Amino acid sequence: MKICLTIPEARAASRDARASGKRLGLVPTMGALHEGHLSLVRAANAQCDAVAVSIFVNPTQFGPTEDLSKYPRQFDRDCRLLEKEGVEILFAPSVEEIYPNGEVTWVLVEGLSEKLDGRSRPGHFRGVTTIVSKLFHIIEPEAAFFGQKDAAQLAVIRRMVRDLNFSIEIIACPIKREPDGLAMSSRNAYLNREERGRALVLQRSLQRAQQEFQAGERNAAKLISAAKEVFAREPLVALDYFEVVDPGTLDLVERISQKTLVAVAAYVGTTRLIDNTVLEP
Ligand code: PAF
Repeated sequence: MKICLTIPEARAASRDARASGKRLGLVPTMGALHEGHLSLVRAANAQCDAVAVSIFVNPTQFGPTEDLSKYPRQFDRDCRLLEKEGVEILFAPSVEEIYPNGEVTWVLVEGLSEKLDGRSRPGHFRGVTTIVSKLFHIIEPEAAFFGQKDAAQLAVIRRMVRDLNFSIEIIACPIKREPDGLAMSSRNAYLNREERGRALVLQRSLQRAQQEFQAGERNAAKLISAAKEVFAREPLVALDYFEVVDPGTLDLVERISQKTLVAVAAYVGTTRLIDNTVLEP
């Protein structure tokens, strides 16, 4: 695995990979890798000839009161995991390498970036689309792999790719869960034992919505109120949002007549977790 710390090194390595006729896949990450990330790497390995992974804790997608400084960093462990998966290129730049002159140039998907997590985390998606487009320009992959857990991020990135004519296939990979159902996330590491138990309320609320839907309920407001009952029984978890939306536009849906995203975010202690499920009539 070639470890590239600078943009010229990463450009050269990815150009070499493409020059030999290989389909290059990119898995952008912020490190602290878990099975969810590794499933993206495996999907990329299965669908591409060479895989590049980026590890960069991107400061521009964190708000001033968020967890940038305490975000988990485990570079040596991450390297070992990626090596084992047969990753060809690891791009792990410093903040100075990526933003040497401060940040004045942004990529912003207006409208979508203010929905779901974008509403609770102003500026978050602007930071995500800016770093992802920089990574796309540096690595120039044929395909890029993202987790379905960040469903709003996926919608924003798909729209950016369409509007800015990136010739990159965006591939969404299923949510990976712990044996008890908690969606895997680097932020799960913040949870103490008691919070870890309480965090299961996110998955339970989605299951409740799925059950109502399977029983024939198509009214989004009814699904939301059923899910909120589940949260009411876990008062130490603060619900941020529980929404039923179109997976492409993130617009609210009133009646479910086509593929619909049910997305939840909640604070378990100070840790903000997200999860979602898709309803398919
Ligand atoms: O999903 C993430 O880990 C990040 O938002 C991403 C896509 C790597 C951009 O920093």
